[in-house]
Parts: sequence; C-alpha cells; structure tokens
Amino acid sequence: MTEQPALSPAKAQADAPANTRKVFVKTYGCQMNVYDSDRMTDALSRDGYTATEDMSEADLILLNTCHIREKAAEKVYSALGRLRDMKKTRASQGRELMIGVTGCVAQAEGEEILRRAPAVDVVIGPQTYHRLPEALKRARTGQRVVDTEYALEDKFSHLPQAEKAKTRQRGVTAFLTVQEGCDKFCTFCVVPYTRGSEVSRPLAQILDEARNLVDGGVRELTLLGQNVNAWHGLDADGRELSLGDLLYRLSEIPGLARLRYTTSHPRDMDERLIHAHRDLRMLMPYLHLPVQSGSDRILKAMNRRHTADDYLALIRRIREARPDIALSGDFIVGFPGETEADFEATMALVREVNYAQAFSFKYSTRPGTPGAELEDQVDEAVKSERLERLQALLFSQQYAFNDSRVGMVFDILLEKPGRLEGQLIGRSPWLQSVNVDGDPAEIGSLIRVRITGAGNNSLFAERI
Ligand code: 5AD
Ligand code: SF4
Repeated sequence: MTEQPALSPAKAQADAPANTRKVFVKTYGCQMNVYDSDRMTDALSRDGYTATEDMSEADLILLNTCHIREKAAEKVYSALGRLRDMKKTRASQGRELMIGVTGCVAQAEGEEILRRAPAVDVVIGPQTYHRLPEALKRARTGQRVVDTEYALEDKFSHLPQAEKAKTRQRGVTAFLTVQEGCDKFCTFCVVPYTRGSEVSRPLAQILDEARNLVDGGVRELTLLGQNVNAWHGLDADGRELSLGDLLYRLSEIPGLARLRYTTSHPRDMDERLIHAHRDLRMLMPYLHLPVQSGSDRILKAMNRRHTADDYLALIRRIREARPDIALSGDFIVGFPGETEADFEATMALVREVNYAQAFSFKYSTRPGTPGAELEDQVDEAVKSERLERLQALLFSQQYAFNDSRVGMVFDILLEKPGRLEGQLIGRSPWLQSVNVDGDPAEIGSLIRVRITGAGNNSLFAERI
C-alpha cells in the first residue's frame, strides 16, 4: 500500500456519523465488476455504510472502472473531473465527500490517477477490495491511498460472511464469481495484466455461496470468470473437477431453477462441459463464446491459439449436444495488419455460425500489450467502415433470432415489474427480456408462455 499526502485533506470537513454514511457505486464494464461492486458494498456495510442509488446524498463515491478499451478508461477521467466540482461544492458546505477509484483502471494506472485526478482519495485494485474499509480509514486521516498490490492471500477468502449475504435483498438472478484472471495473453488484451493470472475459487466456497443465494430467493445463477471455463477444482476426495463437473454439482441445489456461465474461451470447452449442455435442462441453451476474428492469420497474431475451422467444428459439436443452443460472440475489427480479405473471413464465419447476440468493437491499442507494438495499425476510417458492415450483419441475425421465437412456447423466469402497471419482465432461456401481464407477487417464478411478438431487443408473450 502506498500513500501520499492529500491535496485537500478530507479531515478538514465535517464527517457524517460513521453509522449513517452512504456509498454510491458507479459500475463500468463487465459483469465481473457488477459482482465486485456488490461485494464492496457488502464489505462497507459492515463498516456502517449503506448503499444509495442517489449520488447527491453519498458520502463516498466509488467508480468501479473498466480498462478494456481506451474509451472505457477515458470515461473514468471525465467522470472524475465532474466529481472534483462536486467535491468542491461539498467542501464549501462543510460536508465530506470521499472519492475512490476501483477496478481495472485503478490496477493499471495506480498513482497516475492521483496525479491526473486531484479529487481522488483512494485507488484500490481488484485484488485488494477486502482492504477498502482500512484504506478509507487512512484516507480520512488525510492520506491518499493507492493499494494495487497482488495480494498473496486469496482474495476470495475475504468475502463477507455468507450470513450477511443472506440478509441482503437481492433479485431473483445473481452473479457468482468462480474464477478470476487469465493466462491466455491474447495480444490485444489487458486482462492478464489488470486481473492477473488465473485463480479458481474452491468448490466448497462456491457451493456455500450458491446455497446462500438460493436460500435468499435467487432462482438463476450466472457463474462468472474472465475465463470461466478454465475453472478447475478438487472434490472432497481430491478428484480433479472442471467447470462441467461444477455445473452438475450446482444443478443439485434444491430451489435453483437456472444456470448460466460467462465468459468462455474456445480452447477450454471440454467434453464434460459439452455433456453438461446435453444433460442439464437447467443449464440454459445460451453460450457466449468469443472468437474475435474469422481469419486464421489474424487469430494467430492475436495469439488465440485456434483456427476458424477449430471454432466452427466446436460449434457443431455443441449444437449436436444441445440443438436449441443460441450463440453469442465478441469481435474485434481492425486488429493490426487486418486486410479486407481477413475481414471478409470474419463476415463469412459470422454467416456460418448465425449468432443470436454479439458484441463488436474497433481494435483499441492498449499500452503494455503486445498488440500495441505491432506496426501496420489499421486506419480509423477503415475500422469504422468495417465495424458498420459487421454490425449490420450481426444485428440482422439478432433480429431474425428474436423473430424466430414468435409462436414458440417456453418457460420464462419472472424477474421484475415492467414499465406499465400490471406488466412484468421475464427472461427467456436465451437471455431475451420478455414482457407479459402479471402481478409483482409472482416475481421469482417460472411461467409458461407463448411468444406473440418480437422487437429488436425484447419479446412479448401471453400466458398459457
Ligand atoms: N480493443 C478492442 N476490443 C477489445 N476487447 C478486448 N480488448 C480489446 C481491445 N484492445 C474486446 C474483446 C473481448 C471483449 C471483452 O472486449 O472482444 O472479448
Ligand atoms: Fe483477454 Fe484473451 Fe484472456 Fe479473454 S482470453 S481475458 S481476450 S487475454
């Protein structure tokens, strides 16, 4: 942990009494951050903080940040500029406002954040969230704190007591982190540097947290990890387990209705996991399996360690095991050296797979990654033009997929009230939002519906 004197000591202002402090967390980026934000709020609640959705009443504002692309990182600095003004206004009213930066920008930039953003009191990386309350205490004495060390201890063992999690009202769906970090080192990606090397959470801890979440009313669990299908563990007899085994184990929890997991790497889709898709009805028929590019030359330069044909063969095997599975993917256009022919290979792969959902990005140079060293960077205008073509194709596939659900009958999980009174929003097996009439008391149940209409992003249904 490193410390610097505060530019504007937080101490000079009147503190809210410790037990009435409020924290507002703004989450950027992936679901892993959503999960981490919840854990931070939990840790702070043991320290007397309550969470608020209203930034203006917060005594502590945390930005849980994302560093995956340049735009994501820059957003954080503009938000910090606005917070600086808010902190000044507060100071003139004699009220404390502490500001923390957590997540991947914190990990990647550390001290640099203190230099660029004078309003920031604490900078905490993803490996040290359990030390957040301690860092805030120090900051309150007028020290600015940067804590981005890779903790030698296992950060998972510092998660709040399961009992705590039980008492907090969560929705009917929950994320559960089972794995963190990545050893794959794709040449465009900062994750191996910001999240560190792969760590799997032990089986017993995962089963415990899962049972607690289900006891608290959760019906659907999404297992999270940057490379979730690299999860591995040991059972009580010391036998090696993979993610497929974990899913079989979780499927035995009474009361749990649905399982999902994200994000996977094609290299780690093993036989056992494919069998889980074949055997477990509660494992939802939806798989996010990024391929990034359809060109073997580019895949090699990206260090993805598979070819386009490997990926297509894998998709065929998964579809044989679970014919109704929907595929989702991530794509990068304009990786250094990408030619028109390389890009056409990506378009051809997309046409062959036919995705239900996808995320596509222009390549963004990330300092410190091997990709940043490559010559032959692609012109911005070319990237934009390719992204437009790719997205037109992907969106048309997504709309067609939504349309193809019309007339189908299946179960949806009722998640929350709809926009209009008397309406509820449920979730299809394929992650689509479904609008249906109903009463809020039904939230958390599975109901059978017939799809009557499809929009670009959601479906409409009637009960049967
Ligand atoms: N530029 C553009 N997109 C990126 N992604 C990761 N790193 C970069 C980068 N440098 C995308 C990949 C990944 C998703 C989470 O973000 O498609 O799968
Ligand atoms: Fe990044 Fe590649 Fe690891 Fe995914 S598999 S987190 S893209 S390095």
